Amino acid sequence: MAAAAADAAVKVAEIRDLTRIERIGAHSHIRGLGLDDTLEPRQTSQGMVGQLQARRAAGVVLEMIKGGKIAGRAILLAGQPGTGKTAIAMAMAQALGTDTPFTTLAGSEIFSLEMSKTEALTQAFRKSIGIRIKEETEIIEGEVVEIQIDRPATGTGAKVGKLIMKTTEMETIYDLGNKMIESLTKEKIQAGDIITIDKATGKITKLGRSFTRARDYDASGPETRFIQCPEGELQKRKEVIHTVSLHEIDVINSRTQGFLALFSGDTGEIKSEVREQINAKVSEWREEGKADIIPGVLFIDEVHMLDIECFSFLNRALENELAPVVIMATNRGITRIRGTHYSSPHGIPLDLLDRTIIISTSPYDERDIRDILKIRCEEEDCEISDDGLLILTRIGMEASLRYAIQLISLAYLVATRRKGTEITVEDIKKVYTLFLDEVRSTAFLKEYQDQFMFHENPEQSKFPLFTYIIYSISMPLTHLH
Ligand SMILES: Nc1ncnc2c1ncn2[C@@H]1O[C@H](COP(=O)(O)OP(=O)(O)OP(=O)(O)O)[C@@H](O)[C@H]1O
Ligand SMILES: [Mg+2]
Repeated sequence: MAAAAADAAVKVAEIRDLTRIERIGAHSHIRGLGLDDTLEPRQTSQGMVGQLQARRAAGVVLEMIKGGKIAGRAILLAGQPGTGKTAIAMAMAQALGTDTPFTTLAGSEIFSLEMSKTEALTQAFRKSIGIRIKEETEIIEGEVVEIQIDRPATGTGAKVGKLIMKTTEMETIYDLGNKMIESLTKEKIQAGDIITIDKATGKITKLGRSFTRARDYDASGPETRFIQCPEGELQKRKEVIHTVSLHEIDVINSRTQGFLALFSGDTGEIKSEVREQINAKVSEWREEGKADIIPGVLFIDEVHMLDIECFSFLNRALENELAPVVIMATNRGITRIRGTHYSSPHGIPLDLLDRTIIISTSPYDERDIRDILKIRCEEEDCEISDDGLLILTRIGMEASLRYAIQLISLAYLVATRRKGTEITVEDIKKVYTLFLDEVRSTAFLKEYQDQFMFHENPEQSKFPLFTYIIYSISMPLTHLH
């Protein structure tokens, strides 16, 4: 089974290689929490601006997570809309790096998947637990002396060939099968390359080119890495480390899903027996020193969208031995808990709040807004004039930070249309009149609401007037009695 998991790890790594896309998103300017070595936040660093208190707190939590010892803690980021809660969570993900699993889930996603709410949550929990598997494999590492490929005279049938490899001390000839020939061609391996071949999987990795070939520099291109020819034996034992999530092991070992399900993401429900077996195996490997558990982070954004069943699931799941650190975010005040008639702070039941530590975020001042907008302009590759930034900051203060961020790319489009190179006040004015913010849109609706469908402004609705009439008629009657 350890071999199965290692095999799974290789497959998962291959899939991950396929799906790496970078785009400019709402938080793509954020590269970390921007803290110094003593965990003090810098005013502006790594794309983060201000919000010092919350960033300081997030830094402490980050250290706790990095330690890898603590699991099953819940942290709540609470604050007004647009105060950087999601941004801080993304910064934590960046700071943790790729080796610690970080799963993001929006509260409302639970209800749209084709599986039960608790299954979706369980999968999210297990995606956030990493298993680091140590494995010894045999590899062949050396410099390629020669590759001979014999094509069959008939033109069809399997190719065969020979590969001569050497270290500083020895030289060996290996027979090549069809598959190995294909991989050698795919990796464009030639004489003079230093390569490793994994004996179990046949995977070939090119490490660089031998120094002895440095004089062929012109032919090899500027990005070629030159390295020494390896010493010692050609065959070596090497420890390789794979990190996979518990969920990935679940899927690969689940007979009804299989490994291909990872491609589509459509993993369906996983039987609890499979999970129990995997848990047992993982703790066995842990005792044998073959695997380490890395508790990662599950980030549940818009957590107030969860309902009472999900909340009680969270209560229990947090106490599990294999639980990640759960970070939640909400912008709600005292509101109804979904699925009940009761109200609670942030729409979260008190028993879950009791297990939670709360980090609060507060609205930004003018300087912070200006700095965030400036960073966003750089991120979106838009030049802006000084007074343009001033006006945009004003809009950010009066409408909202998000609205001002949205205007950047729109205004830049207008600027490029008039063949300008930077956003000016005029461009901003233009998009400001073209696109309404929430406040102006509401004002507009209030003014013209009787021309819209389903309007319900209490000031103009007929119902209060009607009750008023009834009330004023009945009052004198009751007085008579
Ligand atoms: N301190 C900050 N530094 C840099 N960018 C920030 C900061 N705070 C917020 N932003 C950016 O401002 C925008 C709005 O912030 P964010 O989405 O994090 O708000 P939020 O608190 O999650 O709001 P909501 O409650 O509506 O989800 C995002 O594009 C975010 O990247
Ligand atoms: Mg958010």
